[in-house]
Amino acid sequence: MAGNRAVVYVGPGEVEVRDISYPELILRDGPGVNPLNVGRKCEHGVILKVITTNICGSDQHMVRGRTTAPSGLVLGHEITGEVIEVGRDVEFIKKGDLVSVPFNIACGRCRNCKERNTNVCSNVNPDRPGSAYGYVDMGGWVGGQSEYVMVPYADFQLLKFPDKDRAMEKILDLTMLSDIFPTGYHGAVSAGVKPGSTVYVAGAGPVGLAAAHSAQLLGAAVVIVGDLNSERLAQAKSFGCETVNLREHANLAEQIDQILGEPEVDCAIDCVGFEAHGHGHAHGEAPATVLNSIMEVTRAGGRLGIPGLYVTGDPGAVDEDAKIGTLKIRFGLGWAKSHTFVTGQTPVMQYHRELMTSILSGKAQIAKAVNATLISLDQAPAAYSEFDKGASKKFVIDPHLSVKR
Ligand SMILES: NC(=O)c1ccc[n+]([C@@H]2O[C@H](COP(=O)([O-])OP(=O)(O)OC[C@H]3O[C@@H](n4cnc5c(N)ncnc54)[C@H](O)[C@@H]3O)[C@@H](O)[C@H]2O)c1
Ligand SMILES: [Zn+2]
Ligand SMILES: [Zn+2]
Repeated sequence: MAGNRAVVYVGPGEVEVRDISYPELILRDGPGVNPLNVGRKCEHGVILKVITTNICGSDQHMVRGRTTAPSGLVLGHEITGEVIEVGRDVEFIKKGDLVSVPFNIACGRCRNCKERNTNVCSNVNPDRPGSAYGYVDMGGWVGGQSEYVMVPYADFQLLKFPDKDRAMEKILDLTMLSDIFPTGYHGAVSAGVKPGSTVYVAGAGPVGLAAAHSAQLLGAAVVIVGDLNSERLAQAKSFGCETVNLREHANLAEQIDQILGEPEVDCAIDCVGFEAHGHGHAHGEAPATVLNSIMEVTRAGGRLGIPGLYVTGDPGAVDEDAKIGTLKIRFGLGWAKSHTFVTGQTPVMQYHRELMTSILSGKAQIAKAVNATLISLDQAPAAYSEFDKGASKKFVIDPHLSVKR
């Protein structure tokens, strides 16, 4: 039997490439596996040879020691692969198919899945609704920053690319369908972006850039991206966004006023989450900054898309309240402005097929927008550290060197 190598979380600031077990159509015990999931049979699943698997800001929360992720956890929830083995109960997905895996794991049988809310499937994580590969408190499904991975509920979940050769030509774009393209798009849709909208995107990381590109695809008139990282802001500018450097300019409303002639936007998207920094030079971490500032700069009656991650447990938080996810939010302001808030994991399956078509037709240029950067599995630890320092790159691991250089 083939071996398997994977990126493993060792401890805060430390990841390693290690040998792990070759996947089977059963969930075995291991670091982070929920005891109630041990021994779970997955004849509805497949084994994938991983073609591409991306590093995500969500992984960084764990790698920075900001969650309760256990040492030994195999990382990786952004997976694209080729089917090399199918379970007994898989009917339609075939060996050889090239597929995108939604990062949420979803059974297709529960009430939430039936209502298309695959982000909160109630059958895959014994602790709470919602699950993902290689993630703390998500049931213990083994991560896919590896050579091979098992994916359950294959017929329901997998998005098959119609033409393998054509897909391999656009693989750096298609690899974003497992998470950040649908996530950025969901942020924009939830914020109500439509033709002519003015939009503020907080964060110029890969999710922020994906949200900005999505807002453009939806017809926004002006997309303003804010961050404290000038390299990332330059990336946003490269595809037509206006930018605000929040380190240099602490007053966001004033900056928006200079760009638009009024201090408010129609729609705002939080692509930062709980590790948000305060604005200005004297900034430290201030987890409610983005939530408060988007309420301030969004017009009354507007909508706030909040894909940025907020947690219920943060051992590295700035104060006792934030350690359990209780943040100092000026909710009265949002209420007074009749804002709509949309939070949570992205229901990837609501968007990935249409976004695939947009990529294949050449309409969407997501790899360019997020600066997709191909690396080998062995380069992953260095890439984690470069990404942590704020590099404006979306790292795409190519474990079998299958992608044309
Ligand atoms: N909802 C979902 O399903 C989903 C999916 C993927 C990622 N996420 C989350 O989206 C967030 C962004 O992901 P990413 O990969 O782009 O992460 P990232 O860490 O690369 O980017 C975050 C960016 O926010 C910037 N930032 C910090 N404070 C700021 C502030 N006050 N205003 C503006 N910018 C600020 C940082 O400088 C950084 O560039 C993360 O929290 C991630 O966990 C959620
Ligand atoms: Zn992700
Ligand atoms: Zn379900």
